[in-house]
Amino acid sequence: MNKKTVILGTGGTIAGTGAAGGHAYTAAQLTTEELVRGIPGLAQAAGGDLVIEEVARIDSKDMDHAVWRRLAQRCAVHLADSRVGGIVITHGTDTIEETAWLLHELLPADKPVVLTCAMRPATALVPDGPQNLLDAVLLASHPEARGVMVCALGSIFDPCDVSKVHPQRLNAFASLDGGPLGWVEAGQVRWAHAVPPSAATARHGALLHAPAFTDGAWPRVEIALSHAGCDGALVDSMVASGVRGIVVAATGNGTLHHALEAALERAADAGVAVRVASRCPLGRMAAITGQPWRDAGGLSPVKARISLMLELVAA
Ligand code: SIN
Repeated sequence: MNKKTVILGTGGTIAGTGAAGGHAYTAAQLTTEELVRGIPGLAQAAGGDLVIEEVARIDSKDMDHAVWRRLAQRCAVHLADSRVGGIVITHGTDTIEETAWLLHELLPADKPVVLTCAMRPATALVPDGPQNLLDAVLLASHPEARGVMVCALGSIFDPCDVSKVHPQRLNAFASLDGGPLGWVEAGQVRWAHAVPPSAATARHGALLHAPAFTDGAWPRVEIALSHAGCDGALVDSMVASGVRGIVVAATGNGTLHHALEAALERAADAGVAVRVASRCPLGRMAAITGQPWRDAGGLSPVKARISLMLELVAA
């Protein structure tokens, strides 16, 4: 029996509208139902029934922990349903990499969860959303697809590596050092390697039903940037206002402005968890000698923030 594909809408430019053919638009205007109805052949691409559900309708710059929690919980419910084969999430491009990483950290990886988006609104002369959604549905119903992925402009990206790298271009995403996992071309999935990617087990899967995750606010984790002319005032005020964790976006191989480093030492002494990520978009820091804090394992600062926050929820 063919399995159902679930489409969970969250908003974004893919659901954005403006004057027909114009550049100006407002994100997150169409309902998920309207978005899906506008694309012929979607149910056929899924090879079975489509289930459509709207989790939120927001510009993803405004993504917050309440929407993340609801989205993760709805994904978990659908993934546990044996009649569901995979999930597609429509999302804004601006924070899609963060949501993808959060879900990768939380969800079981035995079925595909494909996030997709668009750089142009639905009312553009040539919108990219319909093809992206069609590709995402194809991918989510592919028998070899597993785990969380981002699918945009025909490329399939790993949630660990993917970043938005351009504010305008249609091909706004890149996997930086990693390269895409594969492509969707002429209605077919082509993996980059002979063996399709196997998704790792979620590191924080057990959290989904934990009261610390389901109830109340998640611990506050902020990002501090090491830059020329830096001082530690921002870190001191974060600590004074009750931050629980700080990811520092360090220069190069994890180096820090001495004034910021001193402030981070004060933060750590006050019980704040500190992680070091690099500002460099490519590569990975080599072991940092003489620094007391854990590095972020090659994650970008925004993804390291999510991982640290989940660690603190789990603690
Ligand atoms: C958003 O991230 O929701 C707006 C921008 C976009 O989707 O391209």
